[in-house]
Amino acid sequence: MKTIDDLGELRGKRVLVRSDLNVPLDGTTITDDGRIRASVPTISRLVDAGAKVIVVAHLGRPKGTPDDKFSLRPVVARMSELLAKPVAFATDTVGESAKAVVAALGDGDVAILENIRFNAGETSKDDAVRGAFADELAALADAFVSDGFGVVHRKQASVYDVAQRLPHAAGGLVLAEVEVLKRLTVQLERPYVVVLGGSKVSDKLGVISNLLDKADRLLIGGGMAYTFLAAQGHEVGTSLLESDQIETVKGYLTRAKEKGVEVVLPVDVVAATAFSADAEHAVYAASEIPADRMGLDIGPESRTLFASKLADAKTVFWNGPTGVFEMEPYCHGTRALAQALLDSGAFTVVGGGDSAAAVRRLGFDEKAFGHISTGGGASLEFLEGKTLPGIVVLES
Ligand code: 3PG
Repeated sequence: MKTIDDLGELRGKRVLVRSDLNVPLDGTTITDDGRIRASVPTISRLVDAGAKVIVVAHLGRPKGTPDDKFSLRPVVARMSELLAKPVAFATDTVGESAKAVVAALGDGDVAILENIRFNAGETSKDDAVRGAFADELAALADAFVSDGFGVVHRKQASVYDVAQRLPHAAGGLVLAEVEVLKRLTVQLERPYVVVLGGSKVSDKLGVISNLLDKADRLLIGGGMAYTFLAAQGHEVGTSLLESDQIETVKGYLTRAKEKGVEVVLPVDVVAATAFSADAEHAVYAASEIPADRMGLDIGPESRTLFASKLADAKTVFWNGPTGVFEMEPYCHGTRALAQALLDSGAFTVVGGGDSAAAVRRLGFDEKAFGHISTGGGASLEFLEGKTLPGIVVLES
């Protein structure tokens, strides 16, 4: 992959940078700024080189039109603090505001364009529609730097198509992430335990098939555990459930058995009457979740079980909290899991915005983990050995 050095002299050049600034928000308050901090070194480097830096990024999953609750405005303020310099903000993606903001940039200045997913062209499955949007993005710049590792698994205009239209390079974050994750694909020490949790259930169910060929043990917590429990014939009350995936999951369980991959599910859960920290909640056996309760974390016996299944691990990849760690009653599973990872002495890679945020929020020292990836889906797909469009495009 080409690096920023390969782009030559950048002073006065307009450089479009794709960052992953998809941070958790509570209203307009950023609850974890890890991804913004991780994006700063590349942006600073371009600033120091005298480039006119145009940052594009997404926040959440808006439906291709502007939607205030997904505005990048709060991120602009934080980026400005971290860079210790003003950051201009375009209130659209490639429209009048973006053009004016870019035209006003001086050497070493930085601008952030509004959520790139406010334009339907960004995520379109139609190559021509995406390409037309990428043309407009490319027209704003002289070069492209891909630094949003968290989105390199997406074939989207600002990740993939724009790189085909401009001289391009991988930013420092993408290079660093790829280097560490490669270690998990080539020099893997076993037992290799993969822990999956989180709430993007449908995204992650698909990866399990490939992980069954790679991991020695699979620990399942978080939202997807309930589809597994349902596949084993248990009632899961009002917990998150992908009922159309139950048959697929049954197939995974059969294949896991055939391959000798141990799949470990929660044996008890903390279940509540509502998705709220104040809701009435209690611990139930995973086979006895009442019809009116939703599982929001793994229970104490599961914590001990998961820790025992991590104790002999030499390599661990963890993606997704075991529960709704942002709410105190449901953070204990994730906390115990993070501690078990550290206690195992294994090489630990934590992937994904939520897991990384959980580690920081629960007071763990980030440096104690082998690597904290900014990519959730991206790191999973990398480890599965999949071809990532946003990486492949940088190799040509
Ligand atoms: C993430 O949160 O994993 C990345 O920002 C990608 O977001 P996406 O899953 O909405 O594409």
